[in-house]
Amino acid sequence: MADDEAVLALRVAGRPLHRRPYRAHSVPGSVHPPLAAALVRLAGVEPGMTVLDPCCGAGTLLLESPGLRLGVDASLDALACARANGLAALTHADAGHLPVATGSVDRVLVNPPWGRQVEARAGLATSPARLWYETGRVLRPDGLAAALLPEPEVSGLRTKTAMPIRIAGRPAFLVLLA
Ligand SMILES: C[S@@+](CC[C@H](N)C(=O)[O-])C[C@H]1O[C@@H](n2cnc3c(N)ncnc32)[C@H](O)[C@@H]1O
Repeated sequence: MADDEAVLALRVAGRPLHRRPYRAHSVPGSVHPPLAAALVRLAGVEPGMTVLDPCCGAGTLLLESPGLRLGVDASLDALACARANGLAALTHADAGHLPVATGSVDRVLVNPPWGRQVEARAGLATSPARLWYETGRVLRPDGLAAALLPEPEVSGLRTKTAMPIRIAGRPAFLVLLA
């Protein structure tokens, strides 16, 4: 409540909408499903698109997305969670050296390690900017990336939109990059 305005939230379903039946497994840093759904909508993902999450964790961003969904993660445990949650096209690899063809992806959706709750592994541990180089490489010329980040800018890609949000109480940004 502020001044003469109040925000009232009503639960409209018996089961809270953030409790998705698909998400039986999560990893440290797993995205809240409603935030993942918002990111997918803002990224303009449509059926028929090829969608990649190069740090897929338990797969929440992809599981909220239509299209051909490709997940990559450097952790075998994370990939096992994503598989148990229902994803099939999963690859154990470094997001800094993606085994994905140049210009083959319509949308990259990503919630990379920020070095707080989740540490970067493999190539991203020493060269975090490799994620953005590889994102730019695999995207089609008219492609778009949508990311959850602690800052609104990344190296090598242009910020189209940066929306301030809070994740687990901390300031963050939902960023669209091209
Ligand atoms: C914040 S979590 C992603 C959570 C995911 N969006 C979800 O909802 O479950 C970041 C992920 O990046 C992965 N990761 C860290 N370094 C990586 C690298 N070099 N290449 C690929 N994945 C990496 C971690 O294993 C972790 O699963």
